[in-house]
Amino acid sequence: MDKIVVKGGRKLKGRVRIGGAKNAVLPMMAACLLTRGESVIRNVPVLADVITMKKVLERLGARVALRGHTLRVDTSTITDHEAPYELVRTMRASVYVLGPLVASIGKAKVSLPGGCAWGPRPVDLHIRALQELGARIEIDHGYIVAGASVLKGNTVVFSLPSVGATANTMMAAARARGKTIIVNAAREPEIVALADFINRMGGKIRGAGNDTIEVEGRAELSPAEVRVIPDRIEAGTYMIAGAITAGEIELENCVPEHVEVITQKLRQSGVVVEKSRNSIYVRGKRRLESVDVVTAPYPGFPTDMQAQYMSLMTIARGTCVISETVFPDRFTHVPELRRLGANIKIDGNTAHVGYIKRLSGAPVMATDLRASAALVLAGLVAEGETHISRVYHIDRGYEAIEEKLGALGADIKRVPE
Ligand code: UD1
Repeated sequence: MDKIVVKGGRKLKGRVRIGGAKNAVLPMMAACLLTRGESVIRNVPVLADVITMKKVLERLGARVALRGHTLRVDTSTITDHEAPYELVRTMRASVYVLGPLVASIGKAKVSLPGGCAWGPRPVDLHIRALQELGARIEIDHGYIVAGASVLKGNTVVFSLPSVGATANTMMAAARARGKTIIVNAAREPEIVALADFINRMGGKIRGAGNDTIEVEGRAELSPAEVRVIPDRIEAGTYMIAGAITAGEIELENCVPEHVEVITQKLRQSGVVVEKSRNSIYVRGKRRLESVDVVTAPYPGFPTDMQAQYMSLMTIARGTCVISETVFPDRFTHVPELRRLGANIKIDGNTAHVGYIKRLSGAPVMATDLRASAALVLAGLVAEGETHISRVYHIDRGYEAIEEKLGALGADIKRVPE
């Protein structure tokens, strides 16, 4: 196992290129199962989660080749319908194969994802929606076992907007008979990107990005080519890297509109953020002000940026309140940030972040993907060295983070533990 060692105190300066979005490419890879033949996905980030999804598809019999940032998924040789526990356990998003498998081959057996470091994350909405499209589903020995001779379009009303359940339903409905209306759908850009991909396959999805999506089912879809949208969470993380080090950086290849709420919060706190068509300039300063945040589904403040934002707030003047409404106990980064000297109190789903003049380096442990990003960010300004162990978490969602930060002037290296 590797660890990352960061020596804090350097202002970051320069340009960084944002990669393709992890949360867009994973459902796109699953959507290839809706067709038979070779689909091509470009601008694919080389991440541990992408490799896990590649293994899931290969386990089903697909041929998958990743060369550089181009992924070819050939589904003409699908032979199986099972996503086993050992793969799903390492990546919840494996559940994305459920909808496409039921829709295209009439059966699926997918391990239940179970909990994660910060609490239970159910899949009841995915299951109920597929049942409403006519699938028979039972839970057997920790597996979701689904079957359907034919899926039929229906109106699916979600009690809350779930990214995963919206994507699974959209994929299944794309090959169902008749029209499906998804009410209270997730509005994330990754949902829009998935709908675009399915439409390139010959699907008919309207309204993605709004809270009501209409899917006209098609008997067949054809393989297609697509380019993955830029990763807004990677972008937000580098924006904070610029802000927290009082640096001056430019993000290339991003969609400023997708990080609008992060931009607003950073500006309120005193950071200069200037946007152009597909780049963002960020200039931090030494004295930042605290600004409260409430996480919410898109277009609200992303839960996937909460930990990184908290790192920034530890050294901002004043006290702020960060409320987590999407995953109420997503705070495993807090004890680790405290090791660096942060002044944070947790009360239910709310963190009260007080000001300290300076964080100081310490050994810390990455507990999940975004928590590890938060620790790297804190390490960039902490006095002395921060040793972050279990960095495999960070490789799930950030391509070459130490190289990108190193190129911006950070003192960061990956060493064997
Ligand atoms: C996706 C993202 C993840 C992000 C999250 C919220 C991917 C691969 N992952 O996860 O990075 O943090 O969106 O933006 O895109 N819920 C249920 N029942 C369900 C499904 C969800 O109650 O069947 C609840 C969850 O517990 C949570 C809320 O719905 O409180 C939103 O979760 P959801 O949008 O489904 O998250 P994921 O798709 O798992």
